[in-house]
Amino acid sequence: MNKYKKDSVEKVLRNLHADAKKDYMRIGKGVVKSIFRPMQPSDFEHAYLPISQEQGEAIRQLVVENDCKNVVEFGTSFGISTIYLADAVRQTQGKVITTELLESKAKRAIQNISEAGLSDLVEVKIGDAMETLKGFSEPIDFLFLDGWKDLYLPLFQMLEPQFHASTMIYADNMDMAGTQYYGNYVLGKKQTYASHMVDGGKAMLTACAA
Ligand SMILES: C[S@@+](CC[C@H](N)C(=O)[O-])C[C@H]1O[C@@H](n2cnc3c(N)ncnc32)[C@H](O)[C@@H]1O
Repeated sequence: MNKYKKDSVEKVLRNLHADAKKDYMRIGKGVVKSIFRPMQPSDFEHAYLPISQEQGEAIRQLVVENDCKNVVEFGTSFGISTIYLADAVRQTQGKVITTELLESKAKRAIQNISEAGLSDLVEVKIGDAMETLKGFSEPIDFLFLDGWKDLYLPLFQMLEPQFHASTMIYADNMDMAGTQYYGNYVLGKKQTYASHMVDGGKAMLTACAA
């Protein structure tokens, strides 16, 4: 396991973002596979589908500034967002529980997180997050939603009992089909949640108001 070094985190992130720029080819292959049937996560087994560098900086800052310690992530992929979150909880003395459906992606994420020297701050749960987070009983300070879009709402509802008065939820890709169920639910519960769009309208940041 590599030891933490600020330079290693930034170098690993730079390299991963650079490699992710070639995603358009990998995504293209995935889209072709799903022409005659609904899309599925394994169609994108080789694609990062990551947050942008700007989003990464924003979530790192959010976690640090709000002193979030218990961070849960839905959708690890190769670990780009996880590394930003782990670098943030290193500063707040917290931890990240992240979830990835595909074993091959999770293994690469574990490798990347190790190269960044952040392994001791991250637990990667492999399998369907609806199963791996079932019965999750710890309080959640920061929830990052970036897995399969149709699952944002059921996953959120499953974890809702673990929210508290200062829990924050960052949901990426709110412009994509599937996320509207989540959006409607959260925006409909105005007594409980205060939300606004961030990162150019691509993502929604929600704070628990009660
Ligand atoms: C958009 S990518 C995540 C990108 C990552 N957050 C980043 O910024 O680097 C979505 C990931 O969620 C995973 N996923 C899809 N359905 C899932 C599920 N039910 N449980 C856990 N992970 C899932 C996919 O395999 C994919 O790797």
